[in-house]
Amino acid sequence: MDFAYRNGALCADLVPLADIARRFGTPCYVYSRTAIERNYGEFSRALAGRNALVAYSVKANSNLAVLAVLALLGAGFDIVSGGELSRVLAAGGDARKILFSGVGKTEDEIAGALRAGVLCLNLESADELQRVATVAGRLGKRAPIAFRVNPDVDAKTHPYISTGLKQSKFGVPYAEAERLYRDASSIEQVKVVGIGCHIGSLMSSPGPFIDAAARIHALAERLQRAGINLSHIDLGGGFGVRYRDETPAPIAEFIDGALGVLPGRKEMLILDPGRSIVGNAGILLTRVEYVKRTDAKNFLVVDAAMNDLLRPALYGAWHEVRPVREAESGAATAVYDVVGPVCESADFLARDRTLAAHPGDLLAVMSAGAYAMSMSSNYNSRPRAAEVMVSGADARLVRRRESTEELYAAEEVPTW
Ligand code: LLP
Repeated sequence: MDFAYRNGALCADLVPLADIARRFGTPCYVYSRTAIERNYGEFSRALAGRNALVAYSVKANSNLAVLAVLALLGAGFDIVSGGELSRVLAAGGDARKILFSGVGKTEDEIAGALRAGVLCLNLESADELQRVATVAGRLGKRAPIAFRVNPDVDAKTHPYISTGLKQSKFGVPYAEAERLYRDASSIEQVKVVGIGCHIGSLMSSPGPFIDAAARIHALAERLQRAGINLSHIDLGGGFGVRYRDETPAPIAEFIDGALGVLPGRKEMLILDPGRSIVGNAGILLTRVEYVKRTDAKNFLVVDAAMNDLLRPALYGAWHEVRPVREAESGAATAVYDVVGPVCESADFLARDRTLAAHPGDLLAVMSAGAYAMSMSSNYNSRPRAAEVMVSGADARLVRRRESTEELYAAEEVPTW
């Protein structure tokens, strides 16, 4: 299942990607429902019998169909904006399983979350505590809160996605956390319910995650001694997936390792994975428009671009590119950069790949289920791609391609 060749044709579950291109056009994201369910299952199995919640990190892929699959599995959701809150509720997610993270929550967003009845607001500063208390007071509510504590642990990942170091804008400093908790517990409009941390994304080995868990555990013990009891401990997400030839440790190793340093704790354990649920459950389907050869380089100019998939341009991220029709043995290959039509030199999806490709051929950019469509833009006035979800032999459109009129539907030319 997932994405594999069947009789030389790359398929999503049982559906040939060529059929999807014919029905829905390109560029097009294709997600496998089976893969999402299997990935989520890895977490539920590792947490079986525990008081635990897997709160899917919505920013990784916020399509309503993806959220609905996870809501049906009983997932909670980690959100970072009012927009994500709306999406989760629209997809049938349970507000009581929502954690609201992020360094810059506005008053409106806080009010929206409190009205919806979320599980917890993860606070990231003393100022935010005051703001949440004020908004809660105004609404006549008591806001459930946790602090996102920065454990000062190096996640050993790309600097752009490392968040747990002292220098990071995220979380409250470890050394100040206890004082903030004491302050919070004396404010009537808030109710301390938990503690959280998230040290970074794409971690391949569990060491830093376990170190962070140990630091959070030590803090939870201190809080307990100070009479501050918590209902949950949220260790964040960040579990790596394979893009190329990495071998990230199995989820169970992260979880077992963390549980090992949280002995005897009764609080609900929360994790907020994003990439590990959807990353390898999606691909970006694109068509070769031109084959361009120069003395210095060969290019496959495709109809997807950095506005569709920003990761290569932003992080130098590596995504495998596979031909949708398996290359015949002996087919003439060349080394190509796979580039889009956008007017930027950073507009590449892959570099120096050996492929046999011709104009009109379809390519699949692999591992494009996470931080792909959700980071897309309309740069160069390019409508956003369509999204399709496959379940077994059934392929459904889960977001239609944007029209060009939609690009400027919100704009107005003033009559001066
Ligand atoms: N929890 C919090 C508080 C987060 O900030 C994040 C991701 C997650 C959970 C989920 O992390 P994951 O399990 O997906 O690694 N755009 C980047 C990744 C940015 C991650 C931001 N925070 C990329 O494309 O690699």
